[in-house]
Amino acid sequence: MVAKREEEEVMRADSVQKVYFSKKVQYIALKDVSVSIKKGEFVTILGPSGSGKTTFMNLLGTLDRPTKGKVFIDGVDTSELDNNQLSILRNRKIGFIFQSYNLVPYLSALENVILPLMVEGRDTPDNLERARNILEEIGIGNEINKKPNEMSGGQQQRVAIARALINEPPIIIGDEPTGNLDSKTAELVMNLLIRLSKEKRITMVIATHDPEVAGLSQRSIYMKDGVIEKHVRNK
Ligand SMILES: Nc1ncnc2c1ncn2[C@@H]1O[C@H](COP(=O)(O)OP(=O)(O)O)[C@@H](O)[C@H]1O
Ligand SMILES: [Mg+2]
Repeated sequence: MVAKREEEEVMRADSVQKVYFSKKVQYIALKDVSVSIKKGEFVTILGPSGSGKTTFMNLLGTLDRPTKGKVFIDGVDTSELDNNQLSILRNRKIGFIFQSYNLVPYLSALENVILPLMVEGRDTPDNLERARNILEEIGIGNEINKKPNEMSGGQQQRVAIARALINEPPIIIGDEPTGNLDSKTAELVMNLLIRLSKEKRITMVIATHDPEVAGLSQRSIYMKDGVIEKHVRNK
């Protein structure tokens, strides 16, 4: 029974704390936060600006290390990995989506999607075809040759989602991915993420400050002043 429960848990933060040191001032951005996230779960992180959402997402995504406490990804204690091992794990396990789509302006949609593979020399014809299929699947099959500035915000964010999917990660972390979109497009993008989460059993952890967006997820974690205020089950 215990083994099964561990198998289902894909991410865990154990009493993580984050202290930022700037000049001589220290700022405690996260105070003793613990969370367990199961495979295929769709979780939103809510809270006002400055509450620690990005800090927490960066720790969960292993982009940054906690000052205290531990983050486990698929049962692996990431505090025991060096930076190189960590970047390999991150590349295999986690896709990222950001509020500012972070696309390369001089590359086409298709090239942006295969970029994570080009880095490893894996931009093979098969993978190009796969990238085309993903873009098609998420509704921008006609835009694959366009540059970011030739696309709407919603289309650009879909390219970023396709790029996050190209390595078939079991986890996607999104830091306010709908933050720059109008409410209708935001809902479309959220529903796309929900569909992908269900169809591909991808675990989604999405930060947002929009309660309506959060209401579409299974569970919302409310943060305030660097602590978890409450967990809310939406359905
Ligand atoms: N690199 C940093 N150095 C110092 N303080 C930071 C740094 N990053 C974030 N903070 C502070 O930590 C707090 C939480 O920030 P953040 O995690 O970005 O919150 P949110 O994403 O919810 O807006 C804020 O008060 C912010 O000013
Ligand atoms: Mg933030």
